[in-house]
Amino acid sequence: MPQIHEKIHELTVGQLAARSGAAVSALHFYEAKGLISSRRTAGNQRRYTRDTLRRVAFIRAAQRVGIPLATIREALAELPEERTPTRDDWARLSEAWRSELDQRIKQLNRLRDHLTDCIGCGCLSLDTCVLSNPDDAFGERLAGSRLLVERPKAG
Ligand code: FES
Repeated sequence: MPQIHEKIHELTVGQLAARSGAAVSALHFYEAKGLISSRRTAGNQRRYTRDTLRRVAFIRAAQRVGIPLATIREALAELPEERTPTRDDWARLSEAWRSELDQRIKQLNRLRDHLTDCIGCGCLSLDTCVLSNPDDAFGERLAGSRLLVERPKAG
């Protein structure tokens, strides 16, 4: 990983990409979405403050666990004066996201368990396909390959 001299207070987009592991295009995207910001030089080149590195690390960590960019942006916007997230901020926010992640894991497990119904099917029916309409997985089903809702056994 390229080292950045301590005296350098601003990074070019290339330096930020090299240090953070994010592609330049991803950094431009984050900026367009208001997750990071830069100033422009006289030659219209972007310059990022050093703490943008931590901000990008925060964004990428949150994305890795499936947090949507809009949620990440809201979390960053709630920090006082939009400061760079600290260790405590990450601890607090990741804790708050736990139930959302648990929910998503549960849904993915359910999809995985019923994926065999879809293999080779191709219908993607909104009424019967658990992949096509996962939020309705426990809704009424009439026909076709479908999620089997557990029912108490008779007798
Ligand atoms: S593709 Fe999922 S049930 Fe047909």
